[in-house]
Amino acid sequence: MTRSSASSAFLDVLAGRSQNVPPIWMMRQAGRYLPEYRELRAKAGGFLDLCFTPEFAAEVTLQPIRRFQFDAAIIFSDILVIPYALGRAVRFEAGEGPRLDPLDTPELIATLKREADFATLEPVYEALRRVRAELDRNVALIGFCGAPWTVATYMVAGQGTPDQAPARLMAYRHPDAFADIIDALVENSVRYLLGQLKAGADALQIFDTWAGVLSPREFARWSIEPTRRIVAGIRKEVPDAKIIGFPRGAGALLPAYVEATGVDAVSIDWAAEPELIRERVQSKVAVQGNLDPLALIAGGAALDRAVDDVLENFARGRLIFNLGHGILPETPIAHVERMIARVRAYRG
Ligand code: CP3
Repeated sequence: MTRSSASSAFLDVLAGRSQNVPPIWMMRQAGRYLPEYRELRAKAGGFLDLCFTPEFAAEVTLQPIRRFQFDAAIIFSDILVIPYALGRAVRFEAGEGPRLDPLDTPELIATLKREADFATLEPVYEALRRVRAELDRNVALIGFCGAPWTVATYMVAGQGTPDQAPARLMAYRHPDAFADIIDALVENSVRYLLGQLKAGADALQIFDTWAGVLSPREFARWSIEPTRRIVAGIRKEVPDAKIIGFPRGAGALLPAYVEATGVDAVSIDWAAEPELIRERVQSKVAVQGNLDPLALIAGGAALDRAVDDVLENFARGRLIFNLGHGILPETPIAHVERMIARVRAYRG
C-alpha cells in the first residue's frame, strides 16, 4: 500500500504530539465562499460532475491550500457518493441541497444493493493521487466518508430535514430493516476508506453530522457501534491508520464515543463544554475544532474573542484548530485570513 508521504504538524497531533502552534484547516474549506470555487463549479456543470472529474476535484481541493496554506487538505467529494455508488438516485439542485429517492419502507430497503459499484468511485481515488502528488510533504491529505447514521438519514428521507425524524422513526419502527442500511454502509465505507488510504490519503475523517439528534441508547446503536466497526475494519488492514470522528452535537456522550470507537481524534462543535472535553476527551485523544462558523462571518472583535477561546480552552493539549462545522458560503475571505493569522501568532 502506498502510505503517507507527508510528515506534518497535523499528523503529529494525531500521533499524540501536541504542537506549540496548532495546525489548522477548515471543514468545507473548498466551497462557495471562494470565487475560484464558484468559477470552476459553473464550468463543471453539476455538483457530482465536479466530484467525479479528477482534474476538477483535485483543483478545488488545492484552491484553499494555495490561498491560505492550511496544514491539511480534504479531498473534494461528498458523503452522498456512497449512496450513489449503491445505485440510489442522488441529485444536487442549486440552492436546495441534496435530493435522493427515499428509502422509507422495509420493502424498499430490501431492494438496496449490498455492494457499491466501486468503479463509480475510481475518480475520487484518482483525484487523491493527483492531489497527493502536488501537495508539499508538510501538508496532510484527508480522505473521508459520512458515518452510516448520517448517510442513512439522507437515504431514508430523500433529503435533509431539520431533526432527521424520518430516519429516527424508521429506526424505532423497523430496526432490523434500518440495520440493513447501516450494515451496507459500514461494509462499503470500510472498503471506500481503505481505497482512499491506498490512493494517498494520510488520515481519514468520518462525518456524523446528525449524531446529536439521537437519544443515548440510539446513539450507542446507530452512531457509536457502526463507527466502531468502520474503525476496526480499517485497522485490520492498516493498523496505524489515523482516524478522526465527528459526532456533531454528541455533547456529554463524547467520552463514550471516544472510548468505544477507537478514533485518534474527535472534531467537536462550538457548544462543547471545555472542561468536559479537556478532562474526558482531550486526555485520551486529539481534539479538532471548534470555532462557531457564525463568529467567522461576524469577524472583528467577536471573531478574535472566539479564536482566543478555542486556543485558551484547548491549545495546551493536542489540538487541531478548525471550525465546529463547515464554513458557510457568505463568509468573507478576509475573516478567514484574520483567523489564520491569529492562530499562527499563538505562542502558548
Ligand atoms: O470539506 C471539504 O471542503 C470537502 C468537501 C465536502 C463537501 N461535503 C462538499 C460539498 C465534505 C467533507 C462534505 C461532507 C458532507 N456532505 C456532509 C458532512 C459534513 C457537514 O458539513 O455536515 C454532509 C451532511 C453532506 C451532504 C450535503 N452535501 C449537503 C447537506 C449539501 C447541501 C448543503 C450545502 O452546503 O450546499 C451538500 C452539497 C455540498 N457538498 C457542497 C459542497 C461544497 C455545496 C454544493 C455546491 O457547490 O453547490
